[in-house]
Amino acid sequence: MQIEEQLRTAISASLPEKLAKLINPEEIVLEQPKDSNFGDFSTNLAMLKYDLVADDFASPRELAALIVKNFQLQQPAITASVAGFGFINFKLSDSIFWQIFADLPQSEAELIPATKHSQKVIVEYSSPNIAKPFNIGHLRSTIIGDAVANLYQAVGYQVFRDNHLGDWGTQFGKQIVAIKKWGDEEAIASSASPVAELVKLYVKFHQEAEQDESLNDEARWWFKKLEAGDQEARRLWQRCIDWSLSEFNKIYQRLGVKFTENDGRGYGESFFEPMLNDLINDLMQNDFVKEGEGGAKLIFYPNDQYPPLMIQKGDGATLYATRDLAADKWRLEQERYRGDQGERPIIINEVGSEQSLYFQQLYQAEEMLGWYQPGERLHLKHGLYRFSDGKMSTRKGQVIWLNEVLDKAQAKAEELCGDRETAKVLSIAALKWNDLKRNSQLAVTFNWDEVLNLQGNSGPYLLYAYARAKSILAKAKEQGIDVSNRDVSNKRDSQALLAANLTMEPLEKAIIQTLTNFAKVVQQSQRQLNPALLCQYLYNLASQFNSFYNKYQILQDSSGEEAILRRDFRLRLVLQVSLVLKTGLNILGIETLEHL
Ligand code: ARG
Repeated sequence: MQIEEQLRTAISASLPEKLAKLINPEEIVLEQPKDSNFGDFSTNLAMLKYDLVADDFASPRELAALIVKNFQLQQPAITASVAGFGFINFKLSDSIFWQIFADLPQSEAELIPATKHSQKVIVEYSSPNIAKPFNIGHLRSTIIGDAVANLYQAVGYQVFRDNHLGDWGTQFGKQIVAIKKWGDEEAIASSASPVAELVKLYVKFHQEAEQDESLNDEARWWFKKLEAGDQEARRLWQRCIDWSLSEFNKIYQRLGVKFTENDGRGYGESFFEPMLNDLINDLMQNDFVKEGEGGAKLIFYPNDQYPPLMIQKGDGATLYATRDLAADKWRLEQERYRGDQGERPIIINEVGSEQSLYFQQLYQAEEMLGWYQPGERLHLKHGLYRFSDGKMSTRKGQVIWLNEVLDKAQAKAEELCGDRETAKVLSIAALKWNDLKRNSQLAVTFNWDEVLNLQGNSGPYLLYAYARAKSILAKAKEQGIDVSNRDVSNKRDSQALLAANLTMEPLEKAIIQTLTNFAKVVQQSQRQLNPALLCQYLYNLASQFNSFYNKYQILQDSSGEEAILRRDFRLRLVLQVSLVLKTGLNILGIETLEHL
């Protein structure tokens, strides 16, 4: 039995009868005290539940004292004591810790108990727009969405990774006009950033259209042609897509992000375009879908809970929402997205919080249509990005080019480590960590110094901790001590250690306790769609490991049986830490380095 479960069961059996009836063992919250001198676990249960038995006990402390007394009778190897107003602290004997150490999972596969989930998950993220800059919001979506997809996969879901590219819409009419009037296709194709060229043309279109209204009519005409499948319109539109994707794919490559759907391209808005006419006709069968002024078609919500959602304009044009509805209906119809028992998939959209209202409207509509039920459509929102150094500000009308951000991060990292290849990995880790470590819904102020700080809570800090662990293990191996050898196990060591009656240091106990929590934290992060929980956990583990590393000479000259036992135990602890750090970082989408 896991130690926490064991504690909860024993605590629950120690409660006064009246309380025992009201409290489930699982409800009992155990915490790890900051200072391990107080104990290895603590609970505030007596304070929390005192009101329920206030007639029988003079104070929470008195209640705690009774629990401690009963507990002690059952679990003599665990020392319980009352502290403060009624905290109960538990101190485990070394022998229990050796046992916990012996039972730690020793391979990546065992770290997280695989539960097979029959329901499938589609995580849709990144979703930049063709012929527009891949912006910092898309970067956040890419990083957070990828980590959340990994979390689902880690706990045993089958995950589909989709990219809902903005590759359709009336703006392509304008883009085509601009290319034809002022653009040079070959110059765009050979430019370092075709998207930048397309954006210039698009801006020019708007400037010119202020003087010359007829340009807008021309754009509408070209969009109609595009819809009708006109060859020239399709050719230019396709070029815009190819140019943009070649640029976006470079970003994905640098980030190490891959999509699984539509051969890795993702199902963009245009994929659903052929389905839109039928969809609109179907939708019109519902009495909450009505024609409004000027012939526009809209979805109306009961009691005007939300503003109506337009699905077709008066001139017949479809909208972003129409294509989202088509995508979600189509997803419902795909056999491979169905769960093993035929369940509908869970679909997660990682999109900025500025689209919150829109996604509420969309999900509500899909429930009213009977397509999905609550909880099957999830909006994973991220807050805005702000820049602290005014140089890169969107408000001044400047576009932030993602490749420039990545280059700058890489140059900064290279200053730190002096090596190009290392700097690549380090800079991406820094950027990703900076995004993942905090509640993603809050706005982020982007700050280079914070991102690349080696001391604080940063990507490089984590990579250094991991590389440090690996270098100790490599050094040990050079000396002929290979603790990664599968013939040697924690179990064998711990029996010897137990027999030798060695004491365990508080820091070692704290690390072991942290290690035991890994799977639980991954599951929590997944359930709450919150990679920050896993970051917090890994940062804590890395900090504990760094203190440990600074305090003890792990590979000191070992003479005598006891010293050898202790050295091997510590090396195995380092191995466990490195395993959890690597697995955890990989789940976050962060690549590790063996040396740094
Ligand atoms: N292309 C959109 C944008 O850049 C994001 C798309 C989000 N996904 C969706 N299913 N609507 O704002």
